[in-house]
Amino acid sequence: MLKKKSEASQLPSHYAEKSWQRYAWLYDPVVKILFLPFGGEGRFRRALVDFADVKEGEQVLDACCGTGTLTLLLAEKVGGTGAVTGIDLSAKLLEEATKKVKKALPLTFSQESCADIPFPDDSFDKVFVSFGLHEIAEADRQNSLQEIYRVLKANGSLFVFEYHLPQAVLAGFTVKAFHRLFEHEEAYRMLLDGTLLPELEQTGFIIRRKRLIGAGMFQMLHIVKG
Ligand SMILES: C[S@@+](CC[C@H](N)C(=O)[O-])C[C@H]1O[C@@H](n2cnc3c(N)ncnc32)[C@H](O)[C@@H]1O
Repeated sequence: MLKKKSEASQLPSHYAEKSWQRYAWLYDPVVKILFLPFGGEGRFRRALVDFADVKEGEQVLDACCGTGTLTLLLAEKVGGTGAVTGIDLSAKLLEEATKKVKKALPLTFSQESCADIPFPDDSFDKVFVSFGLHEIAEADRQNSLQEIYRVLKANGSLFVFEYHLPQAVLAGFTVKAFHRLFEHEEAYRMLLDGTLLPELEQTGFIIRRKRLIGAGMFQMLHIVKG
């Protein structure tokens, strides 16, 4: 169920696997606490699954799946006739994800980079990237978006969950301060410059729907192939 890369040296040099190795066990509890003021993590995860209207029988990719919380919800939705694959660069986070699988589900985890997705063109009905795009190093982001574009079926959809910079002063300050404290420089730059949507459009994607949640500090995007 978990396919790992044989050599850690295959990871890109800019990737912070060391931090994930040390703190993988803390990821889920921290996310739970962070989302408490917004009604809980479950509310956000379910909102994304509902937003995407995931159906039985669909082929789904969860890119940058981390500890697999969303991946598991997706696997429940696609039923026995569909399949969900979760990919992430971190072997340690994928191990945490695998531990959470307590029953038979149409689910595979694999240690892969979004910049080099090992699936043929037009493989997936839906691709998800939840809190992942700001984590992909700038050096890999354009390749990763192109790879996601390639593996999506022509009538498929990409669903992105990401930070958003709200106009309201207090909420805007909160997101910026959070980035300063806990996110890396490139993620902060993406937030301030608003480069996410132009980068998606540059890849050939069309933004079909955008929904803001959590006082505008987060966004859900429904994106299709142009
Ligand atoms: C903040 S976590 C999000 C995890 C999960 N999607 C969630 O919603 O909780 C970001 C994840 O992106 C992964 N990641 C970063 N760059 C990646 C890349 N180029 N390819 C695959 N995964 C990557 C990290 O290992 C990490 O698990």
